[in-house]
Amino acid sequence: MCGIVGYTGTGEAGRVLVEGLKKLEYRGYDSAGVALHENGRLIVTKAAGSVADLEKMLNDQYQAVRVGIGHTRWATHGPPTDLNAHPHSSASGDIVVVHNGIIENHRSLRRKLGEEAGYKFRSETDSEVLAHLIEHCYDGDLLKAVRKAMSQVDGSYALVAACTREPDRLVCARKDSPLIIGLGAGENFVASDVPALLAHTRRACVMDDGEFASLTPGKVEVSGADGKLIKKDILEINWDIEAAEKGGYDHFMLKEIMEQPVAVRETLRQRIDSASGRVDLAEFDLPPEQLRTLEKIYIIACGTAYHAGLIGKMVIEKLAGIPVEVEVASEFRYRGPLFNTNQLAIVISQSGETADTLAGLRLARSKELPVLAITNVVGSSVSREADLVLYTWAGPEIAVASTKAYVTQLVALYLVAVYLGQTRNILDPGLAAGLVKGLLGLPGQLKEVLSDENIAKIRTYCNHLVNWDNAFFIGRSLDYPVAMEGALKLKEISYIHAEACAAGELKHGPLALIEEGAPVVVLATQKAVLEKTLSNVQVVNARGGAVFAITREDFDDVERQVDSIFYLPAVNDILAPVLSVVPTQLIAYYTAVARGCSVDKPRNLAKSVTVE
Ligand code: F6R
Repeated sequence: MCGIVGYTGTGEAGRVLVEGLKKLEYRGYDSAGVALHENGRLIVTKAAGSVADLEKMLNDQYQAVRVGIGHTRWATHGPPTDLNAHPHSSASGDIVVVHNGIIENHRSLRRKLGEEAGYKFRSETDSEVLAHLIEHCYDGDLLKAVRKAMSQVDGSYALVAACTREPDRLVCARKDSPLIIGLGAGENFVASDVPALLAHTRRACVMDDGEFASLTPGKVEVSGADGKLIKKDILEINWDIEAAEKGGYDHFMLKEIMEQPVAVRETLRQRIDSASGRVDLAEFDLPPEQLRTLEKIYIIACGTAYHAGLIGKMVIEKLAGIPVEVEVASEFRYRGPLFNTNQLAIVISQSGETADTLAGLRLARSKELPVLAITNVVGSSVSREADLVLYTWAGPEIAVASTKAYVTQLVALYLVAVYLGQTRNILDPGLAAGLVKGLLGLPGQLKEVLSDENIAKIRTYCNHLVNWDNAFFIGRSLDYPVAMEGALKLKEISYIHAEACAAGELKHGPLALIEEGAPVVVLATQKAVLEKTLSNVQVVNARGGAVFAITREDFDDVERQVDSIFYLPAVNDILAPVLSVVPTQLIAYYTAVARGCSVDKPRNLAKSVTVE
């Protein structure tokens, strides 16, 4: 849950590290630090606070330094304090480490190093143990020491270590936490994620679990636990640097909401043959006979990705006739699911690093279910462990609150549903052709939804919402998961408590909370249940609730029954969630802005949740 950057070269190491850490703050941002090689010593500067605070502390005083490591933290073991911030130094100060992950046997290692070797610990972190352990194993070669140390460690780690006696060398190790090496000319980099590298290089290689790397300015060597060198594939990263920055918007979240038309278009690209009206998913490479005989699908995900899964369930069941269970990943493996042959697991994860989702994936694979991953991050753990990968091409998502990744997850699930329906010869060709046409029309419709006029309407509504401590999102059928997503987004970034309710359930309890003016957002995009939804709205009206309806322009009976209205373009019922979620994202965004909240980095949350 932390961000790591390392640099060895001839540039200003302090500046490279700080700029890189800024790009990784989405991974955690409660404290930050760097260790820089200077005159035979490793000088550590670290503190609770943001990377900007760290930058002030450094105050350009390390311009001449050429090698160093940096870290931005999201606390797991020990609160965010100066002492718990990384880097951590060994007793002598000769070894310094930054670590992302969890050392599960840190207590027994602490005991061993403390009792048997007299090491004194300064922080409450599990990570500090690594600095002492590596020093304990050090015999003149940092790579050998790291390899020996990590053979005693249980848990997950992306680790970068530096040693005063090997001043231009960094050593890295990886297990279950991402680490990417950036290759430069006369300089090399390592980081938890690509945005930290983009300003310097586009050539990179992704470390795999169990690998070690040694970096000097002129050389990168990757090896296994046995010390044998490993030849790595070099990736050319074609992300635009602009794509990883705010591009003129006040917040990444707004930029990412605005990018949704492009994200959807990219995710659809080359996956639909518009001439034949067929979905062509080369990535879903299972024998057609296996797909035809599938008896059940598990969808495993967390948070927003789970909400996408709920829509995936309804759509796959309808179009492909396969029963689907959607599972919150943190519950899935503890409830003893009944596995069988002829099942498939689909895991959904924007980051591809969510610990609970990864654990669900591993459980499914251990039961010999083929696993299809829907993820946004190439080279992520989920993508590498799944049997099949369907990438969402949303581009890097920096804001903690997921928006563009979510709509691309929906699109990926629609593609899967149509593909399965077509392969199983269940889907009516007329319906399939309509859906394919509808999918291709979504980017243009999303642009319409994001018009200035619509945004002005949302802002007006937010002037009302901003003064309330509670809000309600209601809907039926496919509108219900969208209501859940809208409520999550609002509470996540505006800190207003928001509850999603199946509209028909209101009367079974939540209605007691509706008072004069209470904000109620109703999703009303599903023709089959429109009348039922509107009768639930009447019940809210009768208690004085202030109803904001998100509906379709071809539904003309809604406006007179609600206080304010947001029209979506006419759309196929099945595809409506891709459009209807957008006003809920904008409601959350502008309410959070009006309340002065930290939109991109809401309190207590992090973008990539690599702990259970
Ligand atoms: C909410 C949000 C989270 C994530 C969840 C799973 O806006 O972003 O609920 O959806 O933490 O993350 P991924 O998709 O990376 O597995």
